Amino acid sequence: MKRLFRLLPALLLFSASTFASPAPSTLIANVSGRTTVSLNGSWRAIVDPFDNGRSGFFRDAKPKDKQDLVEYSFDASPVLNVPGDWNTQREPLMFYEGTVWYRRTFSYHKPVDRRIFVYFGAVNYQATVYLNGQKLGQHEGGFTAFNFECTSLVHEGENSLIVEVNNVRSADAVPGIKFDWWNYGGITRDVELIEVPDRFIQDYSVQLTRGSQNEISGWIQLNGAQSGQKISLEIPEAGVHENFASNASGRAEFRIRAKLDLWSPEHPKLYEVVVASGGDTVRDQIGFRTIGVQGSKILLNGKPIFLRGISMHEEAPYREGRAFSPEDAQSLFGWVKELGCNFVRLAHYPHNENEIRLADRMGLLVWSEIPVYWDIDWTNAATLANAEAQLRDMIARDHNRAAVILWSMSNETPVKPERLTFIKQLAQDAREFDSTRLITSALNHVEGSGSDPRVLADPLADALDVIGLNEYLGWYWGRPEDAGKLEWKSSFNKPLIVSEFGGGPIAGRHGDADERWTEEYQNSLFQHQLAMVQRMPNFAGLTPWVLMDFRSPLRMLPGVQDYHNRKGVISNRGQRKLAFYTLQKFYWERAAETESQPVNRKGK
Ligand code: GCU
Repeated sequence: MKRLFRLLPALLLFSASTFASPAPSTLIANVSGRTTVSLNGSWRAIVDPFDNGRSGFFRDAKPKDKQDLVEYSFDASPVLNVPGDWNTQREPLMFYEGTVWYRRTFSYHKPVDRRIFVYFGAVNYQATVYLNGQKLGQHEGGFTAFNFECTSLVHEGENSLIVEVNNVRSADAVPGIKFDWWNYGGITRDVELIEVPDRFIQDYSVQLTRGSQNEISGWIQLNGAQSGQKISLEIPEAGVHENFASNASGRAEFRIRAKLDLWSPEHPKLYEVVVASGGDTVRDQIGFRTIGVQGSKILLNGKPIFLRGISMHEEAPYREGRAFSPEDAQSLFGWVKELGCNFVRLAHYPHNENEIRLADRMGLLVWSEIPVYWDIDWTNAATLANAEAQLRDMIARDHNRAAVILWSMSNETPVKPERLTFIKQLAQDAREFDSTRLITSALNHVEGSGSDPRVLADPLADALDVIGLNEYLGWYWGRPEDAGKLEWKSSFNKPLIVSEFGGGPIAGRHGDADERWTEEYQNSLFQHQLAMVQRMPNFAGLTPWVLMDFRSPLRMLPGVQDYHNRKGVISNRGQRKLAFYTLQKFYWERAAETESQPVNRKGK
């Protein structure tokens, strides 16, 4: 909260200068545990390359009479599906970067004594939201949720919800101008109306106290309540039945002793947790586990764990485009499990909640990241406020998910003072927002060249609990077999995750192991890399690049890439490449080693 107040001046400065409207309200937690009305489906859409609609499309005007001049019509416009990116829904929009106006009409029976919020899982990149011609607010950032209260503006009967969506890239945005994934635009995740009582449960944190396996600590934040409001917390299966009273700002903090079955990849135990206050009751499924570091080891429930992972984008298998549905998550994580993984790096932005909730149920540990990617406008206060807001909202949505163990502040950013200041600020924010998880970043700056040892010496590592290293030996530099001879050193006694290595063949192309673009080349690279990484200092896990081929505007080699990054171990058509089986064999052997050791289930 203290951090939020420090944020406000920059946010106001930011919004005052570019957006003259209120900052988004604080995110309502656990939307799937609320009373909601889905607004998913077909929305009318007007493609507006010259931003002509700003003159008034939000009014959803209809000609008053046969003379009236109205030069747009949502009723007569084609539809786009929501959730969904616009690029893969209409061929002419595949490369489109600009504005699209979305409209959804809905007939609504307004419940009495309820406050109404409209919730968006994500809109890429900027969203301006109107209801019945009135502006509700704006949001920036393509991968985090937001909600606006609309109790006074929603009508009994017909309503018109309009969203101006713009995905034009800019240097002061997050991410900046250049990134190696498709700039899918649109309303890419669920849209819901949320109905809550006048005083409701805004958010809560129910986690094990850091370092303890039998003490739950956390807080419950009410919205619209003063002090003395009764709040109860129940975990029936663990015999937890607690009552509290809110303080002057509607908040209750607690510490509770409890005997719990700990969550782990082998045993993803979730408990039903019920938070109630006044007329509001929220149910959630929460796992309890501890995560920490000890020297170069990552400890899960007090025991060292090796992270058998893979990196992945939020791209839908087969149909391509932004993934969003439970089915997409099931397909992607099905492959992750088939590989023998206990860990997944969700690159390079917060992925949809369906994936995170599935990771909780499936027992997959998660690295979640904000898109501070390559180079951004490090000295711009508004850019920092934007990155901080994305970090705040990533944590706000997923801070009760046992699966999430790592918050990543950035990926492959240049070593320079202004970058260090910027990301150190984010790391400090993250520790304030959530003291129970580990902070990391994917670094790619190493010293040394030729056959000299490579030394990890990026000063940003000082601000991290766990170091991520992206290295492309055998693809962007050197040859795969050079891995056999190369030595690695680190100036930091901290756990190291090799967060990226890889090579990009097109599935089905075969040839010699030294012939680029063939599966044999990628496979040889994987074989050499898997041997090398085990010799790295403080090696605690890896997430090779990448689970599945994905669309990228940076990859244009005809007949091979065709606007796809081909570093997947699986193609976007589900074809497993040779390297898939090499990695799978490596992980199954590691898993067998781990599983032969006794597991501590019961919290001592
Ligand atoms: C980078 C980057 C990825 C990118 C990959 C590649 O390291 O983090 O986003 O796709 O390398 O070059 O394929």
